[in-house]
Amino acid sequence: MKKLLDVLSGLVGQAFADCGYDSSYGKVTVSNRPDLCEFQCNGALAAAKAYRKAPIKIASEVVERLTGKTDQAETKPVWQEASAVPPGFINLKLDAGFLAGWLGQMAADEKLGCDTEEKPQTMVIDYGGPNVAKPLHIGHLRSAIIGESIKRICRFMGNHVIGDVHLGDWGLQMGLIMQAVKEEHPELPYFDPDFSGDYPEEAPFTIGELEQIYPAASARAKEDEEFSRRAHDTTYQFQNGDRGLRALWQHIIRVSVADLKENYRRLNVDFDVWYGESDAQPFIPDMVERMKKEGYAHESQGALIVDVAEETDTKEVPPCILVKSDGATLYATTDLATIVQRVREFDPDAIIYLTDKRQEMHFTQVFRVSRKTGLVDDHVKLVHIGFGTMNGKDGKPFKTRSGGVMRLEYLIGEIEDAVYNRIMENRTMEEAEARQTAAVVGLAALKYGDLSNQASKDYVFDIERFSSFEGNTGPYILYTIVRIKSILAKYRANFGEEAESRAASEAAILPAAGEAEHQLQLCLAQFAETIDVAYHELAPHKICQYVYELSNAFNQFYHGTKILAEENEERRESYIRLITLTRQVLETGIDLLGFSAPDRM
Ligand code: ARG
Repeated sequence: MKKLLDVLSGLVGQAFADCGYDSSYGKVTVSNRPDLCEFQCNGALAAAKAYRKAPIKIASEVVERLTGKTDQAETKPVWQEASAVPPGFINLKLDAGFLAGWLGQMAADEKLGCDTEEKPQTMVIDYGGPNVAKPLHIGHLRSAIIGESIKRICRFMGNHVIGDVHLGDWGLQMGLIMQAVKEEHPELPYFDPDFSGDYPEEAPFTIGELEQIYPAASARAKEDEEFSRRAHDTTYQFQNGDRGLRALWQHIIRVSVADLKENYRRLNVDFDVWYGESDAQPFIPDMVERMKKEGYAHESQGALIVDVAEETDTKEVPPCILVKSDGATLYATTDLATIVQRVREFDPDAIIYLTDKRQEMHFTQVFRVSRKTGLVDDHVKLVHIGFGTMNGKDGKPFKTRSGGVMRLEYLIGEIEDAVYNRIMENRTMEEAEARQTAAVVGLAALKYGDLSNQASKDYVFDIERFSSFEGNTGPYILYTIVRIKSILAKYRANFGEEAESRAASEAAILPAAGEAEHQLQLCLAQFAETIDVAYHELAPHKICQYVYELSNAFNQFYHGTKILAEENEERRESYIRLITLTRQVLETGIDLLGFSAPDRM
């Protein structure tokens, strides 16, 4: 199905052409003065220059065309109002019949009017990015939440999308843990160079212990130079294939990944592949060798580097270091090798990364090296979406009450409690149901609170505000959906199941009877455009904005309309079809954001 603005632009463009102007001047946009009109076209202003004519004259000619009798008798009128306004704007208002007809088509379309990508792309989304054995904290939360939404949006548009968690499973943190375990339990076979049997199947630690080991070892390394040196050695040995350390490493990964999966499940986030930094390592030697041989990489102070500065740079972009003077490879080396791996396995058209925006320079370097050395074809898009920090009310990075970095599960717990208390204030639910509902609503509060901000901006994490059932919040959107579900349930109770399903899927949507209904219809008609923009800009916050506006439009309509008590059967059924469509659009929207609505709240 075509998008509404495209159709309207086509019609106005035709009117321009009929008057002897180029049809490209007919571009129609949603009005930025909704008090004056619904849509507008500013093409006459631009045409005035090209045709050396007063803009208002051109606008008037076009308007005359638009409002004049249509040539084809069966064409229904499109405009209720079209007017030329000085200096040369064209203000437009849609005909109610046209709009209702449009919604009828949209309701019959399985994608609610959204067109999928003509040439589906293969896309890898690199998000989550947790580090093995380090607790998942809120620093990784945004990556997971935004990445999941972007994955869903790209997939909804018909692309082949692969979500990759890209585990941090290779660095010094692994050596620190192993060294700490070794010093605590030197008797374990992993550390015996003469051991040639099978290593135990069970890990020598639980996730709880593992999470204690890492911070303790990391703190110790900062103070104890000797320990730090031993941990570096261990890292080196494990990276170079020490059999016992590799076996121990497998245990760390298994225990840690099981815990991560549980955390992501609670967040309604899931990955198609669980590759890690370690999986890219085998690609490093050949890649580095080739970059050397082909003259891209050269030595500088003992290190191997690739220059990536460009003349147009406004701020310095330092060379990308592939291999340090001590032979160690770096984060960038791993990311480059990961690109090699992804090209081999998926042959992607795009790779999209989600991290804190402080990693921007890193990705600038990695992308430039990839292009320069031909790791990817020219057509491949490499995109880094850098997001801002989640701050507390004091404007500083969010911390627990006791001042520590907040662990994800505590954070989720806090927001669930806040929602639970609100639900219990109304006392309409048993405790057990309220708990379950709080989990669903709490997740919406958390995700919407995050996604409704433009990703690159810092934002204040405010549990009170995010969990409110009113205002621009996740719970408010869910509340609106629950309200629609409840009207539909009452309709079913009054008129029978069959009547409900018939009205919901077959009834004609009638031209709006009042202004609130007209506004609701207008808002619905803009769904496809919204999704299209969110997709092209990789911007979930556009969907948040939209579902909020749609919820407001629905609630306005709801407060001024007797839906169930409407006596005219045709109109009543039209309402049911309209609110069912509203529900579908809202539910599709929140699904793209990564959460869902309960039945009651
Ligand atoms: N593990 C990294 C971190 O915690 C994030 C990884 C992001 N992805 C990537 N391909 N570099 O900062």
